[in-house]
Amino acid sequence: MLVDNHGREINYLRLAVTDRCNLRCFYCMPEHGIKYVNRKDLLTFEEMARLVRVFGSMGISKVRITGGEPFVRRGIMEFLDEITQMDAIREVNITTNGTFTKDKIPRLEAMGIKSINLSLDSLDKQRFFDITRRDLFDDVMSTYHRLVESSIKVKINMVVMEGRNIEDIYSMLELTKNEDVAVRFIEEMPFNGTDGQGNSSFWPMKQILEHVERKYAIKKLQDAPNSTSSNYSIDGYKGSFGIIAAYTRTFCGTCNRIRLTPQGTLRTCLYGEGKVNFRDLIRDGMTDDELGQNLKRVLNVREKDGFEAEKLRAGASPASESMATIGG
Ligand code: GTP
Ligand code: 5AD
Ligand code: SF4
Repeated sequence: MLVDNHGREINYLRLAVTDRCNLRCFYCMPEHGIKYVNRKDLLTFEEMARLVRVFGSMGISKVRITGGEPFVRRGIMEFLDEITQMDAIREVNITTNGTFTKDKIPRLEAMGIKSINLSLDSLDKQRFFDITRRDLFDDVMSTYHRLVESSIKVKINMVVMEGRNIEDIYSMLELTKNEDVAVRFIEEMPFNGTDGQGNSSFWPMKQILEHVERKYAIKKLQDAPNSTSSNYSIDGYKGSFGIIAAYTRTFCGTCNRIRLTPQGTLRTCLYGEGKVNFRDLIRDGMTDDELGQNLKRVLNVREKDGFEAEKLRAGASPASESMATIGG
Protein backbone atom coordinates (compact mmCIF):
# COMPACT_ATOMS: atom_id res chain seq x y z
CA MET A 1 0.00 0.00 0.00
CA LEU A 2 1.24 3.50 -0.85
CA VAL A 3 0.64 6.22 1.73
CA ASP A 4 1.79 9.84 1.56
CA ASN A 5 3.26 11.97 4.35
CA HIS A 6 -0.25 13.17 5.28
CA GLY A 7 -1.62 9.64 5.71
CA ARG A 8 -3.54 9.58 2.42
CA GLU A 9 -3.59 6.28 0.61
CA ILE A 10 -2.45 6.65 -3.00
CA ASN A 11 -4.02 4.17 -5.39
CA TYR A 12 -4.92 6.19 -8.48
CA LEU A 13 -2.57 7.09 -11.35
CA ARG A 14 -3.53 9.65 -13.99
CA LEU A 15 -1.43 8.97 -17.05
CA ALA A 16 -1.30 11.59 -19.80
CA VAL A 17 -0.27 9.64 -22.90
CA THR A 18 0.21 12.67 -25.17
CA ASP A 19 0.11 16.46 -25.02
CA ARG A 20 -1.28 16.65 -28.57
CA CYS A 21 -4.89 17.42 -29.24
CA ASN A 22 -7.08 18.01 -32.29
CA LEU A 23 -9.24 20.59 -30.49
CA ARG A 24 -8.24 24.03 -29.21
CA CYS A 25 -10.54 24.55 -26.21
CA PHE A 26 -9.84 28.12 -25.15
CA TYR A 27 -9.67 27.21 -21.43
CA CYS A 28 -6.89 24.77 -22.20
CA MET A 29 -4.80 26.22 -25.04
CA PRO A 30 -4.33 29.42 -27.00
CA GLU A 31 -5.67 29.44 -30.58
CA HIS A 32 -2.27 28.77 -32.15
CA GLY A 33 -1.82 25.77 -29.86
CA ILE A 34 1.07 25.03 -27.52
CA LYS A 35 4.65 24.02 -28.12
CA TYR A 36 4.37 20.24 -28.19
CA VAL A 37 6.98 18.05 -26.54
CA ASN A 38 9.47 16.49 -29.02
CA ARG A 39 8.44 12.93 -29.80
CA LYS A 40 11.71 11.52 -28.48
CA ASP A 41 11.05 13.18 -25.12
CA LEU A 42 7.66 11.51 -24.71
CA LEU A 43 7.44 8.35 -22.65
CA THR A 44 7.11 5.40 -25.05
CA PHE A 45 4.20 3.02 -24.49
CA GLU A 46 6.73 0.43 -23.41
CA GLU A 47 8.04 2.80 -20.71
CA MET A 48 4.50 3.66 -19.64
CA ALA A 49 3.56 -0.02 -19.35
CA ARG A 50 6.62 -0.64 -17.20
CA LEU A 51 5.74 2.23 -14.88
CA VAL A 52 2.13 1.05 -14.60
CA ARG A 53 3.40 -2.43 -13.71
CA VAL A 54 5.87 -1.14 -11.10
CA PHE A 55 3.40 1.31 -9.55
CA GLY A 56 0.71 -1.40 -9.69
CA SER A 57 2.92 -3.72 -7.65
CA MET A 58 3.19 -0.97 -5.01
CA GLY A 59 -0.47 -0.12 -4.58
CA ILE A 60 -1.83 1.67 -7.64
CA SER A 61 -5.04 -0.10 -8.68
CA LYS A 62 -6.83 2.51 -10.77
CA VAL A 63 -5.44 4.18 -13.90
CA ARG A 64 -7.04 7.01 -15.84
CA ILE A 65 -5.73 7.68 -19.33
CA THR A 66 -5.76 11.37 -20.23
CA GLY A 67 -3.92 13.73 -22.56
CA GLY A 68 -4.09 15.93 -24.67
CA GLU A 69 -6.44 13.66 -26.53
CA PRO A 70 -5.40 10.05 -25.80
CA PHE A 71 -6.75 8.67 -29.08
CA VAL A 72 -4.51 10.86 -31.26
CA ARG A 73 -1.49 8.78 -30.20
CA ARG A 74 -0.78 5.80 -32.43
CA GLY A 75 -0.55 2.53 -30.52
CA ILE A 76 -2.96 3.54 -27.75
CA MET A 77 -5.32 0.58 -28.29
CA GLU A 78 -2.52 -1.98 -27.96
CA PHE A 79 -1.29 -0.19 -24.83
CA LEU A 80 -4.78 -0.32 -23.32
CA ASP A 81 -4.94 -4.02 -24.16
CA GLU A 82 -1.75 -4.53 -22.21
CA ILE A 83 -2.56 -2.58 -19.05
CA THR A 84 -6.15 -3.82 -18.75
CA GLN A 85 -4.68 -7.32 -18.43
CA MET A 86 -2.42 -6.47 -15.49
CA ASP A 87 -3.74 -8.17 -12.33
CA ALA A 88 -2.98 -5.28 -9.98
CA ILE A 89 -4.84 -2.77 -12.14
CA ARG A 90 -8.49 -3.25 -11.32
CA GLU A 91 -9.85 -0.26 -13.21
CA VAL A 92 -8.75 1.53 -16.37
CA ASN A 93 -10.74 4.63 -17.30
CA ILE A 94 -10.31 7.22 -20.03
CA THR A 95 -10.96 10.93 -20.38
CA THR A 96 -11.48 11.87 -24.05
CA ASN A 97 -12.85 14.68 -26.20
CA GLY A 98 -14.85 12.07 -28.13
CA THR A 99 -13.99 13.31 -31.61
CA PHE A 100 -12.84 9.93 -32.84
CA THR A 101 -13.72 7.60 -30.03
CA LYS A 102 -16.98 6.24 -31.44
CA ASP A 103 -15.65 3.40 -33.60
CA LYS A 104 -13.39 2.19 -30.80
CA ILE A 105 -16.20 1.65 -28.27
CA PRO A 106 -16.80 -2.07 -29.00
CA ARG A 107 -13.11 -2.83 -28.55
CA LEU A 108 -12.89 -0.71 -25.39
CA GLU A 109 -15.91 -2.56 -23.99
CA ALA A 110 -14.31 -5.90 -24.81
CA MET A 111 -11.14 -5.02 -22.91
CA GLY A 112 -13.17 -4.06 -19.86
CA ILE A 113 -12.80 -0.28 -19.77
CA LYS A 114 -15.07 0.68 -16.87
CA SER A 115 -15.78 4.33 -17.39
CA ILE A 116 -15.25 7.09 -19.94
CA ASN A 117 -15.37 10.77 -19.13
CA LEU A 118 -16.36 12.77 -22.17
CA SER A 119 -15.34 16.42 -22.34
CA LEU A 120 -18.33 18.25 -23.75
CA ASP A 121 -18.85 21.88 -22.87
CA SER A 122 -21.96 22.69 -24.89
CA LEU A 123 -24.95 21.01 -26.52
CA ASP A 124 -25.18 23.81 -29.04
CA LYS A 125 -23.14 23.39 -32.23
CA GLN A 126 -22.16 27.05 -32.53
CA ARG A 127 -21.17 27.41 -28.89
CA PHE A 128 -19.22 24.16 -29.11
CA PHE A 129 -17.32 25.66 -32.05
CA ASP A 130 -16.71 28.93 -30.22
CA ILE A 131 -15.23 27.07 -27.25
CA THR A 132 -13.22 24.36 -29.06
CA ARG A 133 -12.42 26.34 -32.23
CA ARG A 134 -13.15 23.19 -34.25
CA ASP A 135 -16.30 22.07 -36.06
CA LEU A 136 -16.55 18.56 -34.61
CA PHE A 137 -19.72 18.74 -32.53
CA ASP A 138 -21.56 16.04 -34.51
CA ASP A 139 -18.72 13.56 -34.03
CA VAL A 140 -18.68 14.09 -30.27
CA MET A 141 -22.47 13.72 -30.03
CA SER A 142 -22.43 10.47 -31.96
CA THR A 143 -19.75 9.18 -29.57
CA TYR A 144 -21.98 10.21 -26.67
CA HIS A 145 -25.01 8.35 -28.05
CA ARG A 146 -22.98 5.22 -28.73
CA LEU A 147 -21.47 5.38 -25.24
CA VAL A 148 -24.78 5.56 -23.39
CA GLU A 149 -25.91 2.44 -25.25
CA SER A 150 -22.72 0.60 -24.25
CA SER A 151 -21.81 -1.12 -20.98
CA ILE A 152 -19.31 1.65 -20.21
CA LYS A 153 -20.27 4.16 -17.51
CA VAL A 154 -20.40 7.69 -18.98
CA LYS A 155 -19.64 10.99 -17.32
CA ILE A 156 -19.77 14.30 -19.14
CA ASN A 157 -17.22 16.94 -18.13
CA MET A 158 -18.42 20.48 -18.74
CA VAL A 159 -16.17 23.37 -17.73
CA VAL A 160 -18.57 26.15 -16.69
CA MET A 161 -17.69 29.58 -18.08
CA GLU A 162 -19.43 32.95 -17.90
CA GLY A 163 -20.26 34.27 -21.37
CA ARG A 164 -19.58 30.87 -22.98
CA ASN A 165 -21.90 28.11 -21.88
CA ILE A 166 -24.08 29.12 -18.94
CA GLU A 167 -27.06 28.51 -21.28
CA ASP A 168 -26.03 24.86 -21.45
CA ILE A 169 -26.30 24.06 -17.75
CA TYR A 170 -30.04 23.32 -17.87
CA SER A 171 -29.91 21.41 -21.15
CA MET A 172 -27.04 19.27 -19.79
CA LEU A 173 -29.18 18.48 -16.74
CA GLU A 174 -32.00 17.37 -19.04
CA LEU A 175 -29.68 14.66 -20.42
CA THR A 176 -29.89 13.03 -16.98
CA LYS A 177 -33.68 12.75 -17.21
CA ASN A 178 -33.87 9.58 -19.29
CA GLU A 179 -30.28 8.42 -19.41
CA ASP A 180 -28.01 6.98 -16.75
CA VAL A 181 -25.33 9.58 -17.29
CA ALA A 182 -23.43 11.71 -14.78
CA VAL A 183 -22.95 15.32 -15.84
CA ARG A 184 -20.16 17.12 -13.96
CA PHE A 185 -19.91 20.90 -13.93
CA ILE A 186 -16.28 21.88 -13.46
CA GLU A 187 -14.88 25.12 -12.08
CA GLU A 188 -12.50 26.60 -14.61
CA MET A 189 -8.83 26.48 -13.59
CA PRO A 190 -6.01 28.72 -14.89
CA PHE A 191 -4.36 25.89 -16.88
CA ASN A 192 -4.83 27.45 -20.30
CA GLY A 193 -1.27 27.81 -21.56
CA THR A 194 -1.43 31.61 -21.67
CA ASP A 195 1.11 32.49 -19.02
CA GLY A 196 -0.96 33.53 -16.08
CA GLN A 197 -3.92 35.15 -17.83
CA GLY A 198 -6.11 33.28 -15.36
CA ASN A 199 -9.64 32.03 -15.53
CA SER A 200 -11.63 35.17 -16.18
CA SER A 201 -14.93 33.43 -16.93
CA PHE A 202 -14.78 31.52 -13.62
CA TRP A 203 -17.96 30.44 -11.79
CA PRO A 204 -17.39 29.02 -8.30
CA MET A 205 -19.13 25.85 -7.17
CA LYS A 206 -21.62 27.76 -5.01
CA GLN A 207 -22.79 29.88 -7.94
CA ILE A 208 -23.24 26.80 -10.15
CA LEU A 209 -25.29 25.10 -7.46
CA GLU A 210 -27.48 28.16 -6.89
CA HIS A 211 -28.11 28.37 -10.62
CA VAL A 212 -29.24 24.73 -10.71
CA GLU A 213 -31.47 25.17 -7.66
CA ARG A 214 -33.24 28.10 -9.27
CA LYS A 215 -34.90 25.64 -11.62
CA TYR A 216 -34.72 22.18 -10.03
CA ALA A 217 -35.49 20.38 -6.77
CA ILE A 218 -32.32 18.43 -6.09
CA LYS A 219 -31.21 15.75 -3.69
CA LYS A 220 -27.66 15.28 -2.33
CA LEU A 221 -26.19 11.86 -3.10
CA GLN A 222 -23.58 10.04 -1.07
CA ASP A 223 -20.19 10.65 -2.74
CA ALA A 224 -17.74 7.84 -3.44
CA PRO A 225 -14.76 7.98 -1.01
CA ASN A 226 -12.26 9.87 -3.21
CA SER A 227 -14.69 11.63 -5.46
CA THR A 228 -13.65 14.92 -7.06
CA SER A 229 -17.29 15.78 -7.57
CA SER A 230 -19.97 16.59 -5.04
CA ASN A 231 -22.97 14.71 -6.44
CA TYR A 232 -26.71 15.26 -6.67
CA SER A 233 -29.75 14.07 -8.56
CA ILE A 234 -32.94 15.74 -9.70
CA ASP A 235 -36.15 14.21 -8.36
CA GLY A 236 -37.44 11.61 -10.81
CA TYR A 237 -34.40 11.76 -13.11
CA LYS A 238 -32.44 8.63 -13.99
CA GLY A 239 -28.91 10.03 -14.05
CA SER A 240 -27.04 12.35 -11.70
CA PHE A 241 -24.98 15.50 -11.74
CA GLY A 242 -21.99 16.73 -9.83
CA ILE A 243 -19.87 19.81 -9.32
CA ILE A 244 -16.09 19.63 -9.31
CA ALA A 245 -14.58 22.43 -7.21
CA ALA A 246 -11.34 22.15 -9.15
CA TYR A 247 -10.28 25.72 -8.39
CA THR A 248 -11.78 26.07 -4.90
CA ARG A 249 -10.02 22.79 -4.08
CA THR A 250 -12.35 21.33 -1.49
CA PHE A 251 -11.33 17.69 -1.96
CA CYS A 252 -7.54 17.78 -1.42
CA GLY A 253 -7.91 16.15 2.01
CA THR A 254 -8.92 12.85 0.38
CA CYS A 255 -6.73 13.10 -2.72
CA ASN A 256 -5.59 9.61 -3.70
CA ARG A 257 -3.90 10.45 -6.99
CA ILE A 258 -0.57 10.96 -8.67
CA ARG A 259 0.06 12.10 -12.23
CA LEU A 260 2.53 11.25 -14.95
CA THR A 261 2.89 13.88 -17.66
CA PRO A 262 3.53 12.87 -21.30
CA GLN A 263 7.27 13.37 -20.79
CA GLY A 264 7.32 11.24 -17.65
CA THR A 265 7.35 13.86 -14.91
CA LEU A 266 5.64 12.70 -11.76
CA ARG A 267 3.41 15.29 -10.15
CA THR A 268 1.93 14.76 -6.73
CA CYS A 269 -0.47 17.67 -7.22
CA LEU A 270 -2.12 19.27 -10.24
CA TYR A 271 -1.15 22.70 -8.94
CA GLY A 272 2.44 21.84 -8.10
CA GLU A 273 5.55 21.26 -10.14
CA GLY A 274 7.07 17.99 -11.16
CA LYS A 275 9.15 16.25 -8.54
CA VAL A 276 11.01 13.58 -10.53
CA ASN A 277 11.25 12.54 -14.17
CA PHE A 278 10.71 8.81 -14.58
CA ARG A 279 11.64 8.85 -18.28
CA ASP A 280 15.14 9.98 -17.30
CA LEU A 281 15.35 7.41 -14.51
CA ILE A 282 14.35 4.61 -16.90
CA ARG A 283 16.73 5.79 -19.63
CA ASP A 284 19.52 6.00 -17.02
CA GLY A 285 19.03 2.28 -16.43
CA MET A 286 17.26 2.19 -13.06
CA THR A 287 15.84 -1.12 -11.84
CA ASP A 288 12.17 -1.56 -10.94
CA ASP A 289 13.11 -1.39 -7.27
CA GLU A 290 14.89 1.91 -7.74
CA LEU A 291 11.92 3.32 -9.65
CA GLY A 292 9.70 2.27 -6.75
CA GLN A 293 11.99 3.93 -4.21
CA ASN A 294 11.78 7.16 -6.16
CA LEU A 295 8.00 7.05 -6.05
CA LYS A 296 8.06 6.52 -2.27
CA ARG A 297 10.54 9.35 -1.85
CA VAL A 298 8.31 11.94 -3.54
CA LEU A 299 5.23 10.74 -1.70
CA ASN A 300 7.07 11.56 1.52
CA VAL A 301 7.32 15.23 0.61
CA ARG A 302 3.84 15.69 -0.79
CA GLU A 303 2.10 19.02 -0.26
CA LYS A 304 -0.93 19.10 2.00
CA ASP A 305 -3.21 20.61 -0.66
CA GLY A 306 -3.38 22.49 -3.96
CA PHE A 307 -2.85 25.85 -2.27
CA GLU A 308 0.39 24.76 -0.63
CA ALA A 309 1.54 23.15 -3.89
CA GLU A 310 0.88 26.35 -5.81
CA LYS A 311 2.70 28.48 -3.23
CA LEU A 312 5.79 26.30 -3.49
CA ARG A 313 6.15 26.64 -7.26
CA ALA A 314 9.47 28.07 -8.42
CA GLY A 315 9.43 31.87 -8.29
CA ALA A 316 5.89 31.57 -6.89
CA SER A 317 4.75 31.67 -10.54
CA PRO A 318 1.02 30.97 -10.79
CA ALA A 319 -0.11 27.67 -12.29
CA SER A 320 -0.69 28.49 -15.96
CA GLU A 321 0.59 25.71 -18.21
CA SER A 322 -1.83 24.07 -20.65
CA MET A 323 -3.89 21.28 -19.17
CA ALA A 324 -2.80 19.20 -22.17
CA THR A 325 0.75 19.13 -20.81
CA ILE A 326 -0.37 17.87 -17.38
CA GLY A 327 -3.34 15.66 -18.22
CA GLY A 328 -5.90 17.33 -15.98
P1 GTP B 1 -13.21 10.02 -11.85
O1 GTP B 1 -13.46 10.54 -10.47
O2 GTP B 1 -12.39 8.81 -11.91
O3 GTP B 1 -14.43 9.93 -12.69
O4 GTP B 1 -12.36 11.06 -12.62
P2 GTP B 1 -11.88 12.51 -12.37
O5 GTP B 1 -13.03 13.40 -12.09
O6 GTP B 1 -10.79 12.45 -11.37
O7 GTP B 1 -11.23 12.80 -13.79
P3 GTP B 1 -11.46 13.70 -15.07
O8 GTP B 1 -10.30 13.41 -15.95
O9 GTP B 1 -12.81 13.50 -15.65
O10 GTP B 1 -11.35 15.16 -14.53
C1 GTP B 1 -12.46 15.99 -14.28
C2 GTP B 1 -11.99 17.35 -13.79
O11 GTP B 1 -11.47 17.22 -12.48
C3 GTP B 1 -10.87 17.96 -14.65
O12 GTP B 1 -11.08 19.33 -14.81
C4 GTP B 1 -9.66 17.67 -13.82
O13 GTP B 1 -8.65 18.56 -14.09
C5 GTP B 1 -10.21 17.82 -12.42
N1 GTP B 1 -9.39 17.11 -11.48
C6 GTP B 1 -9.07 15.79 -11.50
N2 GTP B 1 -8.25 15.49 -10.47
C7 GTP B 1 -8.04 16.65 -9.80
C8 GTP B 1 -7.26 17.01 -8.67
O14 GTP B 1 -6.58 16.19 -8.06
N3 GTP B 1 -7.29 18.30 -8.28
C9 GTP B 1 -8.03 19.24 -8.91
N4 GTP B 1 -8.01 20.49 -8.43
N5 GTP B 1 -8.77 18.96 -9.99
C10 GTP B 1 -8.77 17.69 -10.44
N1 5AD C 1 -10.12 24.12 -16.09
C1 5AD C 1 -10.91 23.08 -15.72
N2 5AD C 1 -10.96 21.91 -16.39
C2 5AD C 1 -10.20 21.80 -17.47
N3 5AD C 1 -10.04 20.79 -18.35
C3 5AD C 1 -9.13 21.16 -19.27
N4 5AD C 1 -8.68 22.41 -19.02
C4 5AD C 1 -9.34 22.83 -17.91
C5 5AD C 1 -9.32 24.05 -17.17
N5 5AD C 1 -8.55 25.09 -17.51
C6 5AD C 1 -10.79 19.53 -18.26
C7 5AD C 1 -11.24 19.02 -19.61
C8 5AD C 1 -11.21 17.52 -19.42
C9 5AD C 1 -10.48 17.30 -18.11
C10 5AD C 1 -9.38 16.30 -18.15
O1 5AD C 1 -9.96 18.53 -17.73
O2 5AD C 1 -12.49 19.47 -19.93
O3 5AD C 1 -12.51 16.99 -19.34
FE1 SF4 D 1 -7.91 19.10 -26.11
FE2 SF4 D 1 -8.83 18.45 -23.73
FE3 SF4 D 1 -7.37 20.61 -23.98
FE4 SF4 D 1 -9.80 20.58 -25.07
S1 SF4 D 1 -9.29 20.39 -22.85
S2 SF4 D 1 -7.91 21.33 -26.08
S3 SF4 D 1 -10.03 18.49 -25.66
S4 SF4 D 1 -6.67 18.55 -24.28
